[in-house]
Amino acid sequence: MTTGPVLAVSNLKRSFLQGDERIEVLRGVSLNIQPGEIVALLGPSGSGKSTLLQAVGLLEGGFDGSIRICGEEAAKLDAAERTRVRRDALGFIYQFHHLLPDFNALENVVLPQLIAGADTPAAEARAAELLGALGLAGRLRHRPSQLSGGEQQRVAVARALANRPALILADEPTGNLDESTADLVFGEFLRLVRTESGAALVATHNERLARRMDRVLRLHDGQLHDVTGEPVAASEPATAPTELAALDAMVREVHQLRIASDTLSPQELEGRSVTVWSAIEDYVSRQG
Ligand SMILES: Nc1ncnc2c1ncn2[C@@H]1O[C@H](COP(=O)(O)OP(=O)(O)O)[C@@H](O)[C@H]1O
Ligand SMILES: [Mg+2]
Repeated sequence: MTTGPVLAVSNLKRSFLQGDERIEVLRGVSLNIQPGEIVALLGPSGSGKSTLLQAVGLLEGGFDGSIRICGEEAAKLDAAERTRVRRDALGFIYQFHHLLPDFNALENVVLPQLIAGADTPAAEARAAELLGALGLAGRLRHRPSQLSGGEQQRVAVARALANRPALILADEPTGNLDESTADLVFGEFLRLVRTESGAALVATHNERLARRMDRVLRLHDGQLHDVTGEPVAASEPATAPTELAALDAMVREVHQLRIASDTLSPQELEGRSVTVWSAIEDYVSRQG
């Protein structure tokens, strides 16, 4: 376990070229998140919340400044090492569930654990426990299309927590649900993150949800302010069945290699695992 902040961002700057114009979306953003802290990232649409989460999630480069996750400086990591940090330290929840459509609820939560090296009984027990805690004990064998929007988002919450990440990054996690369902699912999300002693950075434009978190940071004019207003320091669906089958085969292969681990060195096994994780992320990012 790390003792320092799970996230330390310093003077982060990100701009985009739109036509001839350079839009400065993040103009020197700094923030720290301590273990167990749940922090709201509040701002209207277009203020740069997703841009900040994508940078912090090591999903996009192209920024200036420093991002440390559990003490690891992002700029010093190569692509495989960034994937490893995402797999081991981060959990992602998006506005749309991005569940794998051909896998049931339990399997969607088991998969990330198998890739990270858990054995099947332990992964299934963990998945069932998380889904049970979210009221889905009777829905384990349902596929995403057989679940309601609120249930789909609960499965996405369980998946994000499955590998006990130090930091959850959530981008409008209940933004696609009606108000009462959003309140319920968000309450369960908060309760589970606290039970698991995780930390979270949650982007939302909803003031009411923001007030339920430990701390509120407001993104305005490319800068972060705490609630008092002081600046804080300076798809396209690709559901090709063949691709899903290929991913499934890759996951099984890694799992079998781990069981018969005399066939590969730990380094080779780790390399294979990171490749598979990256392929799944790539697939998932093209869903919904
Ligand atoms: N890849 C991109 N290329 C150009 N402009 C972008 C890109 N991503 C985001 N932006 C711009 O950055 C601004 C912030 O976007 P975003 O981070 O999605 O805001 P939010 O999540 O708060 O709604 C917007 O003006 C958006 O148009
Ligand atoms: Mg956004």
